[in-house]
Amino acid sequence: MLIAVPQVFSKDQVRELRAALDRADWVDGKVTAGHQSAQNKFNSQIPENHPVAKQVGDVILQALGANPLFRSAALPLRVFPPLFNRYAGGQTFGTHVDNAIRTHGPTGGRIRTDLSCTLFFSEPDEYDGGELVVEDTYGAKSVKLPAGDMILYPSTSLHHVTPVTRGARVSSFFWLQSMIRQDAQRTLLFDLDTAIQRLAGSSEADAAEVKQSTVQLTGVYHNLLRQWAEL
Ligand code: NI
Repeated sequence: MLIAVPQVFSKDQVRELRAALDRADWVDGKVTAGHQSAQNKFNSQIPENHPVAKQVGDVILQALGANPLFRSAALPLRVFPPLFNRYAGGQTFGTHVDNAIRTHGPTGGRIRTDLSCTLFFSEPDEYDGGELVVEDTYGAKSVKLPAGDMILYPSTSLHHVTPVTRGARVSSFFWLQSMIRQDAQRTLLFDLDTAIQRLAGSSEADAAEVKQSTVQLTGVYHNLLRQWAEL
C-alpha cells in the first residue's frame, strides 16, 4: 500500500532545509546503489557522512517521530538515516527494487528495508518529469507531491523515477524496518487504527454506539499488534 504523509514540514521549514541542502556538496548517486541499480541510476546525492545530511536528516527523524499518521502507517522499529538526491538535466532512475538490507556506512548499523520513503523538497511546478512510479498489485501509481510531503511504499515494489527534463527535483529518501514485517498485516492495523481515530473524533453518530465501536476496534488493534509485533 502507498501512503502519502502530507505536510511533514511547513513551507517555511522546507525553504530553510532546502537552502541548507542546496549549499551542500553533491556527488554521483551511484555511491549508494547496489550492483544492478548502479547501471540505471543517474542522479546526484549528498554523501551520507556530510554534516548537512546529518543535520537535515535529524530534523526529518524528529518530525516523523512526532507525526501520528507516519507512526500509525509505518509502525517503525528502526529508521535509516535519511539520504538526499537531486535529479536535473534529464537524469532518471530506471526500474529497480531497493536492496533488502541496508548498512549505514558511518555507523555500520543495519536494517531490513520494509518501507521506502521519499520526502519531497521541490514543488511540483519547479520541474517537469521526476515522477516516482511505483508498481503494485493494482498497477503503476505515479507520485509527485508538494514540497514537505512524503510518500511511503513497500520496499518490495518495483519502482522508477522518470527523467527530469526541466528544473531540479530535490528529495530525501530512506528506508525503515517496521515492527510489522508483512505489508498486509501492517495495512490491516493501519486501517483499524484509522477507523478508531475517526470514530473517536466523530461527533455526528450516536455517542454510545461510537464508544462501543471504538472500544471493540481498539481491542482488535492491540490484540493483533501483540500477535505480530517484533521488537
Ligand atoms: Ni529505489
